[in-house]
Amino acid sequence: MSSHTENPVPSPIKRLTPPDLKMRKGKDPLVCLTAYDVQTARIADPYCDLLLVGDSLAMVVHGFPSTLAATLDMMSLHGAAVVRGAQQACVCIDMPFGSYEQSPEQAFASAAQLLAETGAQGVKLEGGSVMADTIRFLTQRGIPVLAHVGLTPQAVNSFGGFRAQGRDAQAADKITEDAKAVAEAGAFAVVIEAVMEPLARSITETIAIPTIGIGASAACDGQILVTEDALGVTSGRAPRFVRRFGDINGAMQDAVKLYAEEVRARRYPAAEHYYKAKS
Ligand code: KIV
Repeated sequence: MSSHTENPVPSPIKRLTPPDLKMRKGKDPLVCLTAYDVQTARIADPYCDLLLVGDSLAMVVHGFPSTLAATLDMMSLHGAAVVRGAQQACVCIDMPFGSYEQSPEQAFASAAQLLAETGAQGVKLEGGSVMADTIRFLTQRGIPVLAHVGLTPQAVNSFGGFRAQGRDAQAADKITEDAKAVAEAGAFAVVIEAVMEPLARSITETIAIPTIGIGASAACDGQILVTEDALGVTSGRAPRFVRRFGDINGAMQDAVKLYAEEVRARRYPAAEHYYKAKS
């Protein structure tokens, strides 16, 4: 037997990196999904370039009405689980509301904590021009940043709801300026949420980093969705841009119903599920 098989050394995980994703600008689309737990990460990882531990987990997993309730501890716990489940996708973690807006130094401390505790490769933060100095501060100190402009859910109270953004010329110009500012500040890519197709297209054609759209048309360099929306885990009315690629909610309801019926009828557990005495 060769020494290779006697002493197998686990091969180090080689993930896609933020620079790898940046180099995909204008090439084949970046496939991105959210992930909050190890099972979802394992399932999505082989097919995705980027797994985002989104602060949407406050709503999807924890049942809060907005993302404002996410905390650094929550992001860290879920982020570490996703990193353990992912083998090849780049993993980034959302900076939760209140953990980065005060100063670049506050942002650095929060981002460093997230990366150190989880092993993720980058952080995402919301905001355009107003966050440019912070993005520059982080990227110059070794923290890759994914930016997020357009509808930024942490500002839901200022927007007055989850609404499409950039509908008039002035608002569209502001989003374009935001995208340019985060690109110039060193973000490796930018999420553009809930904007019209011509605006997403013109931003994508203007800036040098990949645009990742959510409700921003196929003109972007990549796409992201909340996995639970895309797979039909969440039920009820979804935003217009969501396509349900599965009906996991229905499949889970069927399975739970069957389990309940089988237990009530004493058909489960059956003999094959019993522990047997050693003979
Ligand atoms: O929090 C989140 O999940 C996000 C993505 C949907 C872009 O920000």
